[in-house]
Amino acid sequence: MKIDTVLSPRELPSLAQADLRETVCVVFDVLRATSTFVTALQNGAREIIPVGEISEALEIKKQRSEVLLGGERNGLRISNEGIEFDFGNSPREYTAEKVAGKTIVSTTTNGTRALKACAGARGVLAASFLNLTATAQFMQAARFENVLLVCAGTRENASLEDILCAGALCELLLSKAGVKLSDPAQAAHAAFESLKYDLAAAVCNSENAQRLLAIPPLRGDVQFCLQYDLFPIVAKMNAGVISV
Ligand code: MLT
Repeated sequence: MKIDTVLSPRELPSLAQADLRETVCVVFDVLRATSTFVTALQNGAREIIPVGEISEALEIKKQRSEVLLGGERNGLRISNEGIEFDFGNSPREYTAEKVAGKTIVSTTTNGTRALKACAGARGVLAASFLNLTATAQFMQAARFENVLLVCAGTRENASLEDILCAGALCELLLSKAGVKLSDPAQAAHAAFESLKYDLAAAVCNSENAQRLLAIPPLRGDVQFCLQYDLFPIVAKMNAGVISV
């Protein structure tokens, strides 16, 4: 298995020109999109449709009134053209009572953008600390040869938490022989190795965590999204739809 890593959202435009047909992409947006998607799926959501723009979400809602709308801009629930989204982007909102059996259309600042950038890949997984081991075990069983870890980042900047989660996945995958890390993947792995003993302390200094910690109702999201292996599920995106 060869593992490369996109560390910053500034690299995302280059993915559109890349030939990803033999590559499996694993997308990380720990705070909070992929953590939220994994939580919703664990709680019984039928599928998640990530879209880049609010207008796309509203158009799907017009065509399919049964879908629920989720996502954020500047970390907060979207209210647009008089339509209040059903959810913001806090994983703690996506309870079984609200999401079981539902299709959720979501648009976030970076997470959905990163997932869309991987659309041409052989496969796309949505990963987080919450479902990391399940994701690693699935990848090892599937014997993927070319893997690209995609760190969604925060606005135009790399996110420490996404890089650390990518590094943590490298750590799990390195438990098997024959895994080769590119330089960026080695950097992510080294960062995780050096900070893993107090991840919360490290991540709390990140740009995204600082933003969330400054919004009292969202403070709990940081701790929630840093929990290891809460959910034994693998979130796969096929034809633009994420499901288990
Ligand atoms: C993102 O997509 O950049 C994050 O998910 C933003 C957030 O959840 O606040």
